[in-house]
Amino acid sequence: MLVQSALVALGATLAAAVPTLVAKDNYFVNPKTGNRFQIVGVAYQPGGSAGYNPELKVDPLSDKDICLRDAALLQVLGVNAIRVYNLNPDLNHDECASIFNAAGMYMLLDVNSPLVGESLTSWNPWESYYASYLNRTFAVVEAFKDYPNTLAFFSGNEVMNNEETAATVPPYSRAVTRDIKNYIKKRGGRAIPVGYSAADVREILFDSFNYFQCAEDGKADDLSHADLFALNSYSWCGAASFKTAGYDVLVSGFKDSSVPIFYSEYGCNTPSPRIFTEVGAIYGPEMTDVFSGGVMYEYTQEANNYGLVDIHDDGSITLRPDYYALKGQFAKLDFKTIQGVKPPTGAAPKPPICEPKLITTKGFNNNFTLPVLPPGAEEIIDGGVKPAPKGKLVTPSTLTVKYKVKNTDGSELKNLQVKQLADDQINEPGLNSAEVVAPTGTTTTTGPGSSTSSSSQSSSSNAAIKTGVVGLPAFAMGALALAAVAL
Ligand SMILES: *[C@@H]1O[C@H](CO)[C@@H](O)[C@H](O)[C@H]1NC(C)=O
Ligand SMILES: *[C@@H]1O[C@H](CO)[C@@H](O)[C@H](O)[C@H]1NC(C)=O
Repeated sequence: MLVQSALVALGATLAAAVPTLVAKDNYFVNPKTGNRFQIVGVAYQPGGSAGYNPELKVDPLSDKDICLRDAALLQVLGVNAIRVYNLNPDLNHDECASIFNAAGMYMLLDVNSPLVGESLTSWNPWESYYASYLNRTFAVVEAFKDYPNTLAFFSGNEVMNNEETAATVPPYSRAVTRDIKNYIKKRGGRAIPVGYSAADVREILFDSFNYFQCAEDGKADDLSHADLFALNSYSWCGAASFKTAGYDVLVSGFKDSSVPIFYSEYGCNTPSPRIFTEVGAIYGPEMTDVFSGGVMYEYTQEANNYGLVDIHDDGSITLRPDYYALKGQFAKLDFKTIQGVKPPTGAAPKPPICEPKLITTKGFNNNFTLPVLPPGAEEIIDGGVKPAPKGKLVTPSTLTVKYKVKNTDGSELKNLQVKQLADDQINEPGLNSAEVVAPTGTTTTTGPGSSTSSSSQSSSSNAAIKTGVVGLPAFAMGALALAAVAL
């Protein structure tokens, strides 16, 4: 009896978790409801890529007080996922993963970092494909695979960004995807989706997509076939439209995808502050059949000027106008409807067969014979990473934010906390209704039901926007700078 009630008590606190999602054909699916899942994400890397520092033993998910502060503000914003780029597998992430889980949020995780030996390089990729690199990526998998809110792993981020790099990188990047999938299959417990996050460079985008989504015999059980394809796209600036931003080209290019498609980054930052009208398009009828949402870049204001919040030296936060603008756009959407869609019945699109004619750009690698595992890697896959860093959900010690958080106008947010959601509940706008006060002049229309379609908001005031021209994704710039130093 005693044991049983103790277990019940334990269960009451620990069992509250988001439902573990699966990638099924071209959609993410919540197995508890059978509904498709739309990612409403924000890129999370406080401190930029410097926020990850192996020597200082910090990464974005290693400090519970910071995670609590940010999970509360992201919960109020209405998001259901964060993307985290640079992780140290040897740190303890239990508190942070549990806080984001309590807040109803998933984690999209990059297994790489820009540091030497921790990612595939864009130049001479064969020089960076070795066992200790793979050991490091497998260690990130080990550290996060047991959290129910781990949604997916990115096997690479913008490793190809032009035709030159696309000449050599594809087989190596696909091999890394294969190796991680193989590791998860042998050691993972559940089939956590793995895929590539591409730069939206239109010259190579669809070849990249096909290179990753094709299957050796046209069957999805080919272990090197990616489970998802994501892109970092900055083509919607200001009051653009579905057409002027070239989103129509993306929808038609991806419409027969065999895997889920989403924006792993979006959020062009000119003009500033941003108005985020792309949100209405991303979750609107023109896109949701093909896309599974996106990740806005990014939470904190860094030198590259993409932030929703300013973090001060004492850990306090001031909300920026972009925060209210994004919140206002999310609030306009009817998420009950958006997250309530069943996948279509009938045959799902099959992956194309991997063959040279699939590749259309001259110079893009069309050799689908992948490099074999580097020496020593097979043993790691068979025996597991040693020692294996293991993660598990814990009960957060508090849900009340200890740092000061201020509105843009200087007024303080009182009693800010993460609201513990019920078992199987996923965050959406309105669940944590902490009062935030938008500065005057910011549009933050609230109230669900007034769903907007982007096309009704198209404007000719931004005629200068060129379709297919990509803003420079900040993470890639950091990675390139570091890669250049490494050379
Ligand atoms: C593999 O990764 C683990 C966890 O980070 C680490 O402790 C171990 O030293 C690594 N082994 C090799 C051979 O690199
Ligand atoms: C394709 O790649 C494999 C593995 O790297 C290599 O052995 C083979 O020679 C390549 N084929 C062509 C036609 O280049």
